[in-house]
Amino acid sequence: MGELKIENLTKDFGTDENHIIAVDNLDIHIEDGEFLILVGPSGCGKSTTLRCVAGLEQPTSGDIVLNGNPVTQRKPKDRNMAMVFQNYALYPHMTARENMAFGLRMTTELSSEEIDELVRDASTLMGIDGLLEKKPGELSGGQQQRVALGRAIVRDPEVFLMDEPLSNLDAKLRTQMRTELQDLQQDLDVTTMYVTHDQTEAMTMGDRIAILDGGELQQIGTPEECYQEPSNQFVAGFIGSPNMNFFDVTLSDGKLLTDDFEIPLSGSVSDQLAGREPEFVMGIRPEEILSKEEAVSSDNTFTINVNVVEPLGDVTYLYTEVNGSEMTISVDRNSDIDPNDQIPIAIPEKELHIFDKETGEALVNRGVPVSSDHVMGSSAQSDASKA
Ligand SMILES: Nc1ncnc2c1ncn2[C@@H]1O[C@H](COP(=O)(O)OP(=O)(O)O)[C@@H](O)[C@H]1O
Ligand SMILES: [Mg+2]
Repeated sequence: MGELKIENLTKDFGTDENHIIAVDNLDIHIEDGEFLILVGPSGCGKSTTLRCVAGLEQPTSGDIVLNGNPVTQRKPKDRNMAMVFQNYALYPHMTARENMAFGLRMTTELSSEEIDELVRDASTLMGIDGLLEKKPGELSGGQQQRVALGRAIVRDPEVFLMDEPLSNLDAKLRTQMRTELQDLQQDLDVTTMYVTHDQTEAMTMGDRIAILDGGELQQIGTPEECYQEPSNQFVAGFIGSPNMNFFDVTLSDGKLLTDDFEIPLSGSVSDQLAGREPEFVMGIRPEEILSKEEAVSSDNTFTINVNVVEPLGDVTYLYTEVNGSEMTISVDRNSDIDPNDQIPIAIPEKELHIFDKETGEALVNRGVPVSSDHVMGSSAQSDASKA
């Protein structure tokens, strides 16, 4: 069992006069066995959150609750959680075997035989049986991270806490370990909180993702929900690659206007925007923009100049400028478009996102008005209890 609740967690590294708020009133409930990814840009408070959960940092206020019991005052070793760090944090003078056994020797009553067996099982699981007598200096980065994961596994914790564990690996190994870690988490079925700044890891690895910015929770949901129904412009821009395109637009006579294009809105969408200041931010994902023949046979068609063509093999990105903002368009790899081509494109209303210009709050997601009783915190928690 490992049901983990982070309740109203705040961490202020500053003083009463000069606050340095790293984590701001954070509420996250993680189900038993769930794989939760905590994602956000550098400095947004991810590591601080994880360290408060682990007990390496004392919160300014709030609680860490494991299976219904507050553990906020407990020492790290008494929380039954195992942490894996970006830099592996292995003891350099110990062999892989000793590194994996050390924690068990120090904190349990297990016999040497029992510890040996646990280390053997974990090393088989991690595929490092042949490396047990080597010291960290003799191992590659990938092998060291396997030892560090093995060390966490032998502890048989209720919660795994992982802080950017793949960041020091090269791109190919990172992709491979991403899949392996997912399989491992599924097999072991241990509640896992995994920190990353990488939106690809967030989108591909976890059951749900929690997106942080400036120490505050922006959204928590499945990767699909956060992608399709971002709660605000920050999430919309952070999740998805290439990034969502954003434009400043003005609402007039039921149309979104810029100097370069106009998009007539259906009744439900313009009703949603009515009664507000007429200035909004419009968002459209690169893969939802129609081009060439598809665009011509559609509504809201206009012509753009292609500045740069970037073929990636499976897909091609076009870079262009519309209404003073950069626009990226994702097209089929066979679409035969060259730099400086003038091509027709269209923005389908059913893929539009519209955000409040002041607060960034999402008002329309994929052409559908966001319901006005939508309060981020409460909807996040009801999603959690459904999961
Ligand atoms: N020990 C500390 N003392 C003062 N400020 C800190 C300390 N640790 C982290 N911070 C600040 O808290 C914020 C969040 O840091 P951190 O949790 O490490 O972010 P992340 O892991 O998301 O990159 C940053 O502004 C960082 O400078
Ligand atoms: Mg960090």
